[in-house]
Amino acid sequence: MQDDLLLKKIIKGLDKGKALDVGAGDGSKSQILNDSGFEVLALEKNRDLIKKIGKRNIDFVCTDVLAFEFPPNEYALILASASLDFLDRVEKEDILAKSFSSLKKKGSLALFVFSKKDPLYQVAKSKWKEVKKETFEFPETAKLHGKYINYLDREEWQELLETAGFKSIHIKEESIEDAHPTPHQHYIFQITAKK
Ligand SMILES: C[S@@+](CC[C@H](N)C(=O)[O-])C[C@H]1O[C@@H](n2cnc3c(N)ncnc32)[C@H](O)[C@@H]1O
Repeated sequence: MQDDLLLKKIIKGLDKGKALDVGAGDGSKSQILNDSGFEVLALEKNRDLIKKIGKRNIDFVCTDVLAFEFPPNEYALILASASLDFLDRVEKEDILAKSFSSLKKKGSLALFVFSKKDPLYQVAKSKWKEVKKETFEFPETAKLHGKYINYLDREEWQELLETAGFKSIHIKEESIEDAHPTPHQHYIFQITAKK
Protein backbone atom coordinates (compact mmCIF):
# COMPACT_ATOMS: atom_id res chain seq x y z
CA MET A 1 0.00 0.00 0.00
CA GLN A 2 1.28 3.46 -0.91
CA ASP A 3 0.18 4.93 2.42
CA ASP A 4 2.40 2.35 4.14
CA LEU A 5 5.32 3.72 2.15
CA LEU A 6 4.39 7.29 3.09
CA LEU A 7 4.26 6.27 6.74
CA LYS A 8 7.66 4.57 6.55
CA LYS A 9 9.13 7.77 5.06
CA ILE A 10 7.59 9.92 7.80
CA ILE A 11 8.87 7.81 10.69
CA LYS A 12 12.32 7.15 9.27
CA GLY A 13 13.98 10.17 10.84
CA LEU A 14 11.97 10.28 14.06
CA ASP A 15 13.25 9.55 17.55
CA LYS A 16 11.70 6.29 18.71
CA GLY A 17 9.64 5.87 21.89
CA LYS A 18 6.01 5.22 22.73
CA ALA A 19 3.50 5.57 19.89
CA LEU A 20 -0.30 5.68 19.84
CA ASP A 21 -2.12 4.47 16.71
CA VAL A 22 -5.62 6.00 16.75
CA GLY A 23 -8.24 3.93 14.87
CA ALA A 24 -5.71 1.20 14.22
CA GLY A 25 -7.99 -1.05 12.16
CA ASP A 26 -6.39 -4.49 11.84
CA GLY A 27 -3.13 -3.08 13.19
CA SER A 28 -1.16 -3.09 9.94
CA LYS A 29 0.19 0.43 10.54
CA SER A 30 0.81 -0.36 14.23
CA GLN A 31 2.91 -3.24 12.93
CA ILE A 32 4.99 -0.86 10.79
CA LEU A 33 5.57 1.38 13.82
CA ASN A 34 6.43 -1.64 15.96
CA ASP A 35 8.85 -3.01 13.36
CA SER A 36 10.54 0.42 13.19
CA GLY A 37 11.27 0.38 16.91
CA PHE A 38 8.27 2.16 18.46
CA GLU A 39 6.52 0.75 21.52
CA VAL A 40 2.96 0.87 20.15
CA LEU A 41 -0.48 1.09 21.72
CA ALA A 42 -3.13 0.38 19.08
CA LEU A 43 -6.45 2.09 19.87
CA GLU A 44 -9.48 0.69 18.06
CA LYS A 45 -13.18 0.74 18.89
CA ASN A 46 -14.20 -2.26 16.76
CA ARG A 47 -13.98 -5.55 18.72
CA ASP A 48 -13.60 -7.72 15.61
CA LEU A 49 -10.57 -5.70 14.53
CA ILE A 50 -9.14 -5.79 18.06
CA LYS A 51 -9.04 -9.59 17.71
CA LYS A 52 -6.86 -9.18 14.61
CA ILE A 53 -4.56 -6.73 16.43
CA GLY A 54 -4.39 -9.24 19.30
CA LYS A 55 -2.85 -11.79 16.95
CA ARG A 56 0.10 -9.44 16.44
CA ASN A 57 2.52 -8.83 19.29
CA ILE A 58 1.11 -5.34 19.89
CA ASP A 59 -0.61 -3.78 22.93
CA PHE A 60 -4.13 -2.59 22.28
CA VAL A 61 -7.02 -0.80 23.88
CA CYS A 62 -10.60 -1.26 22.71
CA THR A 63 -12.30 2.10 23.09
CA ASP A 64 -13.78 5.03 21.22
CA VAL A 65 -10.99 7.60 20.97
CA LEU A 66 -13.42 10.23 22.31
CA ALA A 67 -13.56 8.28 25.60
CA PHE A 68 -9.82 7.57 25.82
CA GLU A 69 -7.89 9.21 28.65
CA PHE A 70 -4.79 10.50 26.91
CA PRO A 71 -1.87 10.33 29.37
CA PRO A 72 0.08 13.62 29.60
CA ASN A 73 3.59 13.89 28.02
CA GLU A 74 3.67 10.21 27.08
CA TYR A 75 4.11 9.63 23.35
CA ALA A 76 6.93 10.26 20.88
CA LEU A 77 4.42 9.78 18.06
CA ILE A 78 0.65 9.84 17.62
CA LEU A 79 -0.64 8.43 14.33
CA ALA A 80 -4.19 8.61 13.02
CA SER A 81 -4.51 7.06 9.58
CA ALA A 82 -7.95 7.37 7.94
CA SER A 83 -9.65 7.58 11.32
CA LEU A 84 -10.12 11.26 12.29
CA ASP A 85 -12.29 11.50 9.16
CA PHE A 86 -15.06 9.86 11.16
CA LEU A 87 -15.13 12.65 13.76
CA ASP A 88 -16.87 15.96 13.20
CA ARG A 89 -14.96 19.24 13.44
CA VAL A 90 -15.59 19.77 17.16
CA GLU A 91 -14.56 16.18 17.92
CA LYS A 92 -11.41 16.65 15.83
CA GLU A 93 -10.57 19.80 17.85
CA ASP A 94 -10.98 17.79 21.06
CA ILE A 95 -8.70 14.95 19.89
CA LEU A 96 -6.05 17.32 18.54
CA ALA A 97 -5.92 19.22 21.86
CA LYS A 98 -5.65 15.94 23.80
CA SER A 99 -3.02 14.62 21.38
CA PHE A 100 -0.96 17.77 21.85
CA SER A 101 -0.86 17.40 25.63
CA SER A 102 -0.23 13.65 25.33
CA LEU A 103 2.87 14.09 23.16
CA LYS A 104 6.26 14.53 24.73
CA LYS A 105 8.17 17.75 23.99
CA LYS A 106 9.12 17.70 20.26
CA GLY A 107 6.86 14.66 19.78
CA SER A 108 5.28 14.13 16.35
CA LEU A 109 1.75 13.94 15.06
CA ALA A 110 1.11 12.12 11.77
CA LEU A 111 -2.32 12.17 10.12
CA PHE A 112 -3.71 10.73 6.92
CA VAL A 113 -7.13 12.22 6.21
CA PHE A 114 -9.28 12.23 3.10
CA SER A 115 -9.31 15.45 1.09
CA LYS A 116 -12.28 16.79 -0.86
CA LYS A 117 -10.65 15.53 -4.06
CA ASP A 118 -11.36 11.98 -2.88
CA PRO A 119 -14.13 10.40 -5.02
CA LEU A 120 -16.18 9.54 -1.91
CA TYR A 121 -16.64 13.26 -1.20
CA GLN A 122 -18.76 13.76 -4.34
CA VAL A 123 -20.80 10.63 -3.54
CA ALA A 124 -21.39 11.83 0.03
CA LYS A 125 -22.23 15.38 -1.07
CA SER A 126 -24.71 14.33 -3.72
CA LYS A 127 -26.34 11.32 -2.04
CA TRP A 128 -25.96 11.38 1.75
CA LYS A 129 -27.57 13.55 4.40
CA GLU A 130 -25.42 16.52 5.47
CA VAL A 131 -25.92 16.46 9.25
CA LYS A 132 -23.48 19.31 9.96
CA LYS A 133 -21.26 21.47 7.73
CA GLU A 134 -19.34 19.13 5.37
CA THR A 135 -20.35 16.18 7.60
CA PHE A 136 -22.23 13.41 5.81
CA GLU A 137 -24.12 10.57 7.46
CA PHE A 138 -23.21 7.11 6.18
CA PRO A 139 -26.15 5.16 4.77
CA GLU A 140 -27.22 2.20 6.99
CA THR A 141 -25.40 -0.25 4.70
CA ALA A 142 -22.09 1.62 4.96
CA LYS A 143 -21.77 2.38 8.69
CA LEU A 144 -18.47 0.54 8.76
CA HIS A 145 -16.21 3.00 10.47
CA GLY A 146 -18.50 5.52 12.09
CA LYS A 147 -21.76 7.44 11.90
CA TYR A 148 -20.49 10.11 9.54
CA ILE A 149 -17.54 11.40 7.57
CA ASN A 150 -16.34 15.00 7.82
CA TYR A 151 -14.12 16.86 5.37
CA LEU A 152 -11.94 19.89 6.08
CA ASP A 153 -9.94 22.07 3.68
CA ARG A 154 -6.19 22.45 4.01
CA GLU A 155 -6.66 25.90 5.63
CA GLU A 156 -9.07 24.47 8.20
CA TRP A 157 -6.60 21.72 9.16
CA GLN A 158 -3.87 24.33 9.48
CA GLU A 159 -6.08 26.44 11.75
CA LEU A 160 -7.14 23.49 13.93
CA LEU A 161 -3.55 22.31 14.37
CA GLU A 162 -2.28 25.82 15.19
CA THR A 163 -5.11 26.31 17.69
CA ALA A 164 -4.16 23.02 19.39
CA GLY A 165 -0.60 24.40 19.73
CA PHE A 166 1.21 22.41 17.02
CA LYS A 167 4.31 23.76 15.26
CA SER A 168 6.15 22.76 12.04
CA ILE A 169 2.87 21.89 10.35
CA HIS A 170 3.17 20.29 6.90
CA ILE A 171 0.09 19.43 4.85
CA LYS A 172 0.58 17.70 1.52
CA GLU A 173 -2.13 16.40 -0.79
CA GLU A 174 -1.31 12.97 -2.21
CA SER A 175 -3.11 10.52 -4.45
CA ILE A 176 -2.79 6.90 -3.43
CA GLU A 177 -3.84 3.79 -5.27
CA ASP A 178 -6.20 1.30 -3.68
CA ALA A 179 -6.67 -2.14 -5.23
CA HIS A 180 -9.94 -3.06 -3.45
CA PRO A 181 -12.51 -3.95 -4.61
CA THR A 182 -11.25 -2.69 -7.99
CA PRO A 183 -8.27 -0.39 -8.66
CA HIS A 184 -9.08 3.23 -7.82
CA GLN A 185 -7.44 6.41 -6.49
CA HIS A 186 -7.86 8.03 -3.09
CA TYR A 187 -6.89 11.60 -2.34
CA ILE A 188 -5.54 12.36 1.09
CA PHE A 189 -3.81 15.04 3.08
CA GLN A 190 -0.62 13.75 4.59
CA ILE A 191 -0.17 15.91 7.69
CA THR A 192 2.79 16.09 10.01
CA ALA A 193 3.26 18.43 12.96
CA LYS A 194 5.36 18.79 16.09
CA LYS A 195 4.68 19.65 19.72
C1 LIG B 1 -10.43 3.30 7.41
S1 LIG B 1 -9.99 2.42 8.84
C2 LIG B 1 -8.24 2.75 8.92
C3 LIG B 1 -7.49 1.70 9.67
C4 LIG B 1 -5.98 1.92 9.81
N1 LIG B 1 -5.69 3.11 10.59
C5 LIG B 1 -5.31 2.01 8.46
O1 LIG B 1 -4.86 3.08 8.08
O2 LIG B 1 -5.25 0.98 7.78
C6 LIG B 1 -10.65 3.42 10.15
C7 LIG B 1 -10.58 2.78 11.52
O3 LIG B 1 -10.83 3.76 12.53
C8 LIG B 1 -11.67 3.20 13.51
N2 LIG B 1 -12.39 4.29 14.17
C9 LIG B 1 -13.26 5.17 13.59
N3 LIG B 1 -13.73 6.03 14.50
C10 LIG B 1 -13.15 5.69 15.70
C11 LIG B 1 -13.27 6.19 17.02
N4 LIG B 1 -14.09 7.22 17.29
N5 LIG B 1 -12.55 5.61 18.01
C12 LIG B 1 -11.74 4.56 17.73
N6 LIG B 1 -11.59 4.02 16.50
C13 LIG B 1 -12.29 4.57 15.48
C14 LIG B 1 -12.61 2.28 12.72
O4 LIG B 1 -13.20 1.31 13.55
C15 LIG B 1 -11.65 1.69 11.69
O5 LIG B 1 -11.04 0.52 12.14
